[in-house]
Amino acid sequence: MHILTLEDYQVVVGEEDIWTPIRNVLHKGEMYSSVLILVDENTEQHCLPTFLDNIEYPKAKIIRVPAGEANKNLDVCNSIWAQLLEQEADRRSLVINLGGGVVGDMGGFAAATFKRGVDFIQFPTSLLAMVDASIGGKLAIDYKQVKNTIGLFLNPQAVFIYPPFLKSLPDRELRSGYAEIIKHALIADHGMWDGIQQIHRLDGVKWNQLIHRSLAVKKKIVEQDPKEKGIRKILNFGHTIGHALESYSHMTNEPLLHGEAIAIGMICEAYLSNKSFTLTVNSVQRITDYILKIYGKVNIDNWPFDKLLQLMMQDKKNEFGRINFSLLREEGVAVFNQNCDTGLIKECLLYYRGL
Ligand SMILES: NC(=O)c1ccc[n+]([C@@H]2O[C@H](COP(=O)([O-])OP(=O)(O)OC[C@H]3O[C@@H](n4cnc5c(N)ncnc54)[C@H](O)[C@@H]3O)[C@@H](O)[C@H]2O)c1
Ligand SMILES: [Zn+2]
Repeated sequence: MHILTLEDYQVVVGEEDIWTPIRNVLHKGEMYSSVLILVDENTEQHCLPTFLDNIEYPKAKIIRVPAGEANKNLDVCNSIWAQLLEQEADRRSLVINLGGGVVGDMGGFAAATFKRGVDFIQFPTSLLAMVDASIGGKLAIDYKQVKNTIGLFLNPQAVFIYPPFLKSLPDRELRSGYAEIIKHALIADHGMWDGIQQIHRLDGVKWNQLIHRSLAVKKKIVEQDPKEKGIRKILNFGHTIGHALESYSHMTNEPLLHGEAIAIGMICEAYLSNKSFTLTVNSVQRITDYILKIYGKVNIDNWPFDKLLQLMMQDKKNEFGRINFSLLREEGVAVFNQNCDTGLIKECLLYYRGL
């Protein structure tokens, strides 16, 4: 079992040994008047039975939401509040978010606002949520189709990560989450980057160790800058271009998953890091080769540059109307607030197309 301590909560990563600490939280001096577990239909099927078998808390109540980003909205949030009322949750209740980033972000938001805030625990079940969404205190729902528009920063009581849940996660979702692990290595942990380059297939990976190391990177960064005023922006490496590609792909018949778009974004932004900063050509090549090995090549030949640029202009990191990038100084070291002109941005997309 690995335990990371963030400012006021712990992240526990483990296998069978994880159930004792969670039972301790639930049973601690009858601290909670009730325990409510939020699931979507996939985590209800694949994770909830194991969870219930192990927590030994027969009075736990279940709250259900439909799966997927399209449901991370006010209507579904409304239904969570309604279910909390129906189940007679009160200020001393505990909500456990058992699911991917959608359940975690929306369940955390619903709990943080219900009766001015009830305690919640994050129990991420997707790789993306395990290494990224579940720590750092960001909670939100999408509003009028714009991602994460309504939300707040608030830490959970604790985060519990049980990697065996990844066995039922679809391969594509697993690969998507892995992009954030690559990102964490590239921005802040050269040793980890050396290590993961030996990973060629995701089916045999020992996740425990890797998740812990990846979380250590995110912890180090969010602790320095919890509200994303400065250094936390380096977590956006690959995301300026990646988000634009992700949004554009949703207008086509083949939408990309978040991490799939970020993988392309990291190749493009590695190229930018060389052209407008200090990353060497050899490093760009290594990053490109590894990402292509895991993700393959996506055909973006007909994706209009102007439209992509327009999407990048809407990026939340921009200040004073300039597109703001987080780039690599070298493999394992990132910098933020870098501007690149549009000619160079086009060039990096052409670089990817030409691979
Ligand atoms: N708060 C943050 O700091 C932060 C950071 C990154 C991403 N996010 C948010 O996270 C969300 C994306 O998270 P996600 O990729 O986990 O999406 P998700 O919650 O939609 O999960 C992806 C799919 O996998 C299914 N699933 C999850 N765990 C499973 C399991 N163990 N077995 C089988 N199926 C399983 C889900 O039901 C869903 O269909 C986005 O809304 C994004 O904005 C938040
Ligand atoms: Zn991301």
